[in-house]
Amino acid sequence: MRSIIIATLLVGGSLMAADSVKANDSGSFSEKGIDGAVLYGKNCAICHGKKAEKSPEAGIPPLASRDATRLALTIRAYRDQDKNIGTYTMHKSSEVMQNQTVKFSDRQIGAIAKYISGLK
Ligand code: HEC
Repeated sequence: MRSIIIATLLVGGSLMAADSVKANDSGSFSEKGIDGAVLYGKNCAICHGKKAEKSPEAGIPPLASRDATRLALTIRAYRDQDKNIGTYTMHKSSEVMQNQTVKFSDRQIGAIAKYISGLK
């Protein structure tokens, strides 16, 4: 019995340690409490790859390490379906990507773009 309690305490302690490492890792990409790494992992990684290394469709190269500002503007163009904002309108009509981006604020998109841009 005693050893079970000790084992539980040990496991609990190491989980807590893992959690705090995670917070530090992704914290460097967070902007006012918004965590780009978490948002990307939950909403984008399935198609674009865990490290943004995948091509989601023929002709669409991986997103990793692209310029953060361009990424943010492209993502916003999908979200807003805006046909009138210059070069950032490419792919604007993708329904897939509009569905993926419609729920995000500008700040959230900024954090996601920064995170993707930092991936290698
Ligand atoms: C269901 C799969 C899927 C998910 C989930 C998804 N994407 Fe996409 N993404 C695509 C496809 C397909 C395209 C190409 C669409 C087109 O033709 O414009 C694309 C294109 C893009 C592009 C433009 C790339 C280029 O070369 O022009 C960006 C940037 C992008 N996605 C970012 C994201 C972000 C950020 C998320 C998460 C919020 C996300 N995507 C989630 C499938 C997805």
